[in-house]
Amino acid sequence: MSQENIEVHVTGHVADVVVNRPDKLNALNGDTIAELTAFFEGLLGNDDIGVVVLTGAGEKAFIAGADISMLADQTVTEGRENSRQGQRLTRAIERAPQTVIAAINGYALGGGLEVALACDMRFASKTARLGLPEVSLGIIPGYGGTQRLPRIVGEGRALELILTGDPITADRAYEIGLVNGVFAPEELSEKVASVAVKILSRGPIATALAKEAVYRGGEMSMDDGLALESDLFGVISSTDEMREGLRAFLDKRDPSWKRKPS
Ligand code: COA
Repeated sequence: MSQENIEVHVTGHVADVVVNRPDKLNALNGDTIAELTAFFEGLLGNDDIGVVVLTGAGEKAFIAGADISMLADQTVTEGRENSRQGQRLTRAIERAPQTVIAAINGYALGGGLEVALACDMRFASKTARLGLPEVSLGIIPGYGGTQRLPRIVGEGRALELILTGDPITADRAYEIGLVNGVFAPEELSEKVASVAVKILSRGPIATALAKEAVYRGGEMSMDDGLALESDLFGVISSTDEMREGLRAFLDKRDPSWKRKPS
């Protein structure tokens, strides 16, 4: 499908995905959600891309939420469908075998924060503001925010954000574990790129299976999650990647993965 609302730049094994509606602070209209969903669903089976970095165009916003004009007159059916479309996107991000990093370069509000919550890591610029302001609009978070935020920061902190609707600073987001790091705006993309390089230097199948174990296991009982982990440990044990990784350690050399950082 054509990509009029997002830009994708692939360099080596990193895909930089930019939500590109800066005049609307990168708010997510239906087309933008569809383009992002197609991109992330298309990552299944793509061995070329190892890490995806998601960010927003311009200096002001990561994503300032769902496009409010799209929600204004929605019926019950449309409301449920809008929510499901956003949830399909956030699920696609979580289920991508690649590591997905949110580079939060400004406002991450509502659906924008919910998209970031589905990413594996979040790094923010010092000037970013993060929040779920839906209740101030008379709606509730609908792209997974009520489910993912409590899992990341705990119910009490999640409910404070969800029920007050007040955005918080990047530093506060770091304090509560909502973001992994905070950097000066001009340093954000370089710092995130260095995390991407680090992940690309690790076993590609291993990083994908470890991600799968965390997310799928998180939806299971401890016993089922441990069984899943053992199964995936069995899967990795059948790979050349494992043999190469362990052999390289014993040989005191760097491993040579099938996909090398370029
Ligand atoms: N949906 C649709 N349009 C949005 C938007 C959104 N979520 N967020 C920003 N925009 C648009 C504004 O309507 C404005 O468009 P216009 O120039 O055609 O009038 C443009 O983006 C710039 O936003 P503006 O409000 O003028 O910038 P600001 O610096 O004064 O304020 C925010 C920035 C983020 C505080 C403010 O835009 C805002 O509160 N946005 C809504 C955030 C929100 O509630 N998100 C959750 C939605 S569920």
